[in-house]
Amino acid sequence: MFSLDHYDLGTPASEATETVTLEIDGRVVTVPAGTSVMRAAAIARTKIPKLCATDTLKAFGSCRLCLVEIESRKGYPASCTTEVMQGMKVKTQSETLERLRRGVMELYLSDHPAELVSDQAPVRTEIREMAQRVGCTRNRYGADGARHVGAAVDDSNPYFQFDPNACIVCSRCVRACDEVQGTFALTIEGRGFDSRVVASQNESFVASECVSCGACIEACPTTALQEKSLVARSAPDRAVTTTCAYCGVGCSLKAEMKGETVVRMAPDRDGKANHGHACVKGRFAYGYATHEDRVRTPMIRAKITDPWREVSWDEAIQYAASEFKRLQATYGRDSIGGITSSRCTNEEAYLVQKFVRAALGNNNVDTCARVCHSPTGYGLKHTLGESAGTQAFTSLAKTDVVLLIGANPTEGHPVFASQLKQRLRQGAHLIVADPRTIGIVRTPHVQADYHLQLRPGTNVALMNALSHVVVTEGLTRESYIAERCEQPSYQKWKAFVAHPDRSPEATADATGVPAEDVRAAARLYAKAGNAAIYYGLGVTEHSQGTTMVMCIANLAMATGNLGREGVGVNPLRGQNNVQGSCDMGSFPHELSGYRHISDQATRALFESVWGVALEKEPGLRIPNMFEAALDGTFRGLYVQGEDMAQSDPNTQHVTAALSAMECVIVQDLFLNETAKYAHVFLPGSSFLEKDGTFTNAERRISRVRKVMQPLAGLEDWQVTVRLSNALGYPMHYSHPSEIMDEIAALTPTFHGVSYAKIDRLGSIQWPCNEHAPDGTPTMHIGEFVRGKGKFFVTEYVPTTERTTSRYPLLLTTGRVLTQYNVGAQTRRTKNVVWHDEDRLEMHPHDAETRGVGTGDWVGVASRAGETVMRALVTDRVQPGVVYTTFHFPESGANVVTTENSDWATNCPEYKVTAVQVIKVTQPAQWQQRFREIAQRQRILRGDRVTQT
Ligand code: SF4
Ligand code: SF4
Ligand code: FES
Repeated sequence: MFSLDHYDLGTPASEATETVTLEIDGRVVTVPAGTSVMRAAAIARTKIPKLCATDTLKAFGSCRLCLVEIESRKGYPASCTTEVMQGMKVKTQSETLERLRRGVMELYLSDHPAELVSDQAPVRTEIREMAQRVGCTRNRYGADGARHVGAAVDDSNPYFQFDPNACIVCSRCVRACDEVQGTFALTIEGRGFDSRVVASQNESFVASECVSCGACIEACPTTALQEKSLVARSAPDRAVTTTCAYCGVGCSLKAEMKGETVVRMAPDRDGKANHGHACVKGRFAYGYATHEDRVRTPMIRAKITDPWREVSWDEAIQYAASEFKRLQATYGRDSIGGITSSRCTNEEAYLVQKFVRAALGNNNVDTCARVCHSPTGYGLKHTLGESAGTQAFTSLAKTDVVLLIGANPTEGHPVFASQLKQRLRQGAHLIVADPRTIGIVRTPHVQADYHLQLRPGTNVALMNALSHVVVTEGLTRESYIAERCEQPSYQKWKAFVAHPDRSPEATADATGVPAEDVRAAARLYAKAGNAAIYYGLGVTEHSQGTTMVMCIANLAMATGNLGREGVGVNPLRGQNNVQGSCDMGSFPHELSGYRHISDQATRALFESVWGVALEKEPGLRIPNMFEAALDGTFRGLYVQGEDMAQSDPNTQHVTAALSAMECVIVQDLFLNETAKYAHVFLPGSSFLEKDGTFTNAERRISRVRKVMQPLAGLEDWQVTVRLSNALGYPMHYSHPSEIMDEIAALTPTFHGVSYAKIDRLGSIQWPCNEHAPDGTPTMHIGEFVRGKGKFFVTEYVPTTERTTSRYPLLLTTGRVLTQYNVGAQTRRTKNVVWHDEDRLEMHPHDAETRGVGTGDWVGVASRAGETVMRALVTDRVQPGVVYTTFHFPESGANVVTTENSDWATNCPEYKVTAVQVIKVTQPAQWQQRFREIAQRQRILRGDRVTQT
């Protein structure tokens, strides 16, 4: 269903800088050259009737409803395909035009169910609106057009249906799939009267290449394509703008509500990250929020072998507080800590770290970003001065070459992938560095210029080789470096990468990438007018994750690709609020805004507002907490919104550490894996049930708005407040906006941020302060945040996780489009139609030597553990490399990953595990134990809760 509340200008904006002045119905209008007459009229607040045009798609000119008269021109041109001219005089209304438009509309209505355009139609549609506008609600030809009447509805997709009876073959859906999404899954088959919309090779929608992004529905001016939820629940009565709670693209969405029920989740055309687009997760997979597995009552138990006891909020909070007090009295102040969540809001993350520092009196706070992007924080802070990506996504429009490293955007960041594909179709070039042949390497109308298919674990060697070419072939931008970077560090780095040991030829054996490809890719990147690097967890989740981030910054500085639009260094954040949770002071050594806890002036500032003395030594990181738990010195943990028993590496080590603690408090939507080791369960609230903000990968702070009451009665931030009060450190907030006011007061990069300003601007990219009152889309303009950019020597140190005859394959991990991280949310939606288990991808060669075929059960054994899953034989992976996802707890991907981690940040080396794979017939011992524990916990819960 098209959003009728959006003021649709009919055709996209022109990029031209020159302007043209014309007259429309006697009114003088000045617009950029290249603007359509339709858009110019809309800008002058005259809406010309239209059907095949919309401002997210190129003009098509097929419906002929938008005819106008132009002085000195013959005929009645279509205003959507006619460009403005200087001095042009346009008439949008006349008797002739009205007659022509009515005639056109009559023909459309002759092949459209009359009840859908009547005043009683259940849903407002654009065709109904236009029929009324042109004064044509009936037609002379009857409503029994022979073309589509009686055609079967395709309801194969779990979220939407296609009803050919209502289709007017305007092609908007086809063009949206091509131009907006870039999947090219739809076509118009047949000609003239027989033409109709088909998916792929005339398949059902669910079997086709359709990725269920919903762009076609958004574009459709009729009810031919519409959400099943809309059919079931009828039209919404209000819309609330909020932010997607899945990936770090941070799409702005409109929750269209009927009472407290979400009728549909529509992408926001004014959303500055997504511009009216979304993906299958944000658009459709919100059903988990009201899933029956949601825990709605707090629970406590003395031991993890005891049954859960449902209690009131007061009793749960008092019990948790008394346990934490007991532990501190018995084992000391530092014996407990807390974990903030990258899925929760900024305000909630800020409160949890404040709770740990002020109420518990130590710095034992960490965040799940530890296991994903902590090397980004460290690497970018040290080289450029700020722990964040440098650009807005719109910067892509000015990029000539994209170097994509260790990120799989078509699966992990789908709306960004669509924007990238659009830019590539316009002629930008793409270099992909990834061990797998990810989707964007070759997709319709897009092909990477180079796919540097390196061996897992050799990122740094590859980046040094790229830099070697840049330096030795004189492709550095010396004037930029002289002006903006520290010379001694540059000279040292330059000599380091110029050494023949770093050449593509010398490193080819290690990386597996042909030297000529490395040389060609380096030249392409360095010689581009504007080259940008986008990267993901394939960069950070390595033993040299931080080194690799520094490599990226080095290369960007050396080629002058920082500090303006079109360039930059851009980490694609996995979860919705990874950037925000880090910004909020979730790491044990930093307060909000990345200020070190040892800095006396910063501590004094927080102490004056918080009214407590702060500990100046950094606290424990997550892996240190686990070690300390096994040593018996760390006894209690408050975990908000992270399922560490599933997401952290070496599951058996994690669960042993959790089992060793005396009080684990889990605050989550579901009784997750970690909750099996918990003593207190505090029900969480979904993004639909609370107010707050998320910060996306562009540093964009966007509002999350409450559309329904929390199912368990409290928003997450209220629970932390209660816990803190019970521990004797009072917190007094009546709304998350007050928490943001405190963050703004204490954090220089947030000084100018407030809910009122976000409401006014839509969203804000930090830094937002006295120097940048409306925020900062591009960082490091003129100079780097740290002053001069600093190069770091990046020696390649191969991981200790090597293949041997016992473990001859390298396992690497990632995720798929339809599932999200540990899967707790998406597994509870209809997205399981597309992905209902994790599989092990194997190259045909490796599969054949082991006698393995697709669908066979295989045992995957590493030095850490062993699990069993089904195989998928594919040449997406190279020989010697296997790959899996970690969305389903029972597949145990993290049972096999090891505790190897990044030297600087302890970010786990998820991307490289040496394994052996053999064909098996029964589950691993770990899985048998897992099932027993799950079964026992279900009994202890004493109810219907299914396995999480
Ligand atoms: S399904 Fe909708 S958008 Fe697609 S051709 Fe038919 S009416 Fe147009
Ligand atoms: S791209 Fe990311 S933020 Fe946007 S709708 Fe999909 S999951 Fe949500
Ligand atoms: S809107 Fe112009 S031809 Fe359809």
